[in-house]
Amino acid sequence: MNDTILITGSTGFLGGATVVQALRSGLGSRLLLLARGKDSVDALERIRANLRLLGATSEEAAEIGVPQLLFGDLGTLDTVSADPRLQQVSVCVHSAALATFSNHPSLEKVNVDGTLALGRLLYRRPAFRRFLYIGTAMACGVGASDDGTVTEQLALRPEADHLVPYTRSKALAERMLQAKFPGLPVVMVRPSIVVGHTTLGCAPSQSIFWVFLVAQLLGAFTIALDDRIDVVPVDWCAASIMALALKPELAHDVYHLSAGMASSVSFREVDVALAAARGVTPVGAAYRQTDVRGLADLMPRMREVIPGCNDRLLLRALKLYGGFAKLSYVFRNDNLLAEGIPPSPRLSDYLARCYDSARDIPVATQMEWDFK
Ligand SMILES: NC(=O)c1ccc[n+]([C@@H]2O[C@H](COP(=O)([O-])OP(=O)(O)OC[C@H]3O[C@@H](n4cnc5c(N)ncnc54)[C@H](OP(=O)(O)O)[C@@H]3O)[C@@H](O)[C@H]2O)c1
Repeated sequence: MNDTILITGSTGFLGGATVVQALRSGLGSRLLLLARGKDSVDALERIRANLRLLGATSEEAAEIGVPQLLFGDLGTLDTVSADPRLQQVSVCVHSAALATFSNHPSLEKVNVDGTLALGRLLYRRPAFRRFLYIGTAMACGVGASDDGTVTEQLALRPEADHLVPYTRSKALAERMLQAKFPGLPVVMVRPSIVVGHTTLGCAPSQSIFWVFLVAQLLGAFTIALDDRIDVVPVDWCAASIMALALKPELAHDVYHLSAGMASSVSFREVDVALAAARGVTPVGAAYRQTDVRGLADLMPRMREVIPGCNDRLLLRALKLYGGFAKLSYVFRNDNLLAEGIPPSPRLSDYLARCYDSARDIPVATQMEWDFK
């Protein structure tokens, strides 16, 4: 087979893990990676450095060379549109995005316009048969469920409220991709909350993990102890993405990459697992659930238990994450499991590795992963 798999976002967390998974499946020669940098040498080095961070050996990372690089930016895809290698692309995994909770001015430009430009680049190419759009399960917005479970449905409600502009941009990208390119073989792949790696812990990225630590240090957060959270590790996401990319046929056009009913964990289980990792007693009965506004009352305690933190910034971040945690969504993954993809590991099973890998990294530094 000489058809090619185009992956965007290979210098990022999920896209990089997906490339590592592809390399381990012997697909190195079939990859084409859209990446940017000062020049193509820099782009290649950025990809390889990220693959090593995500566990690739130097030999595995070295499999990515000039033949695999599509040097470019989502904003200027016309510079690569005549590249003959695009004629061989059969599957695209579109993982590149501005994945930030900040009000970044380029969110729509990258996440919506960039996705549409990629759709245009691949539309009606003869070999092309599958566009895996890596969305986010949180694109369902607020109020998507009465009982806390969100089903895998292609149509996202256009009127849904969003806690951050990022999830709104991801929802808009899905809708516009379908509307602008009828017949483009799009499959929506929506991860829930990606935290850490089952063997590398949070060494490749501390995104979101710090929230659990801070909640335990404060002994308070917006979620009830027995509410569930839907968290998945990046390496399981990557293996699932590659399985969806390679299956000859898919039964559905939307999949949650989520823990679902079987693998989601209660906040109490997180408390117990994190306490064990830290060698302390779980907060347990002393835990206090607060509403988002009540988080402000915790500022003195923040200064006490997280010395050196920027308490105003931390409060702002906790309010955002507190809003999501309060939703306590569990994203059903019946479509995914029906494809024969194994369920996700549970956060409580690999949380100790996350803690160990990040224990010497200040909370403020960990938070930077989420406010790029
Ligand atoms: N992480 C999560 O918890 C999570 C949960 C649900 C869904 N997702 C989705 O998963 C996908 C990947 O997220 P992630 O956590 O891996 O994000 P990430 O680590 O921030 O990586 C983002 C990637 O996108 C690339 N990118 C950004 N703007 C670009 C542009 N204009 N042109 C080309 N490439 C560009 C970045 O390249 P540079 O390195 O050059 O900037 C990087 O490779 C996103 O679509 C996100 O919405 C993530």
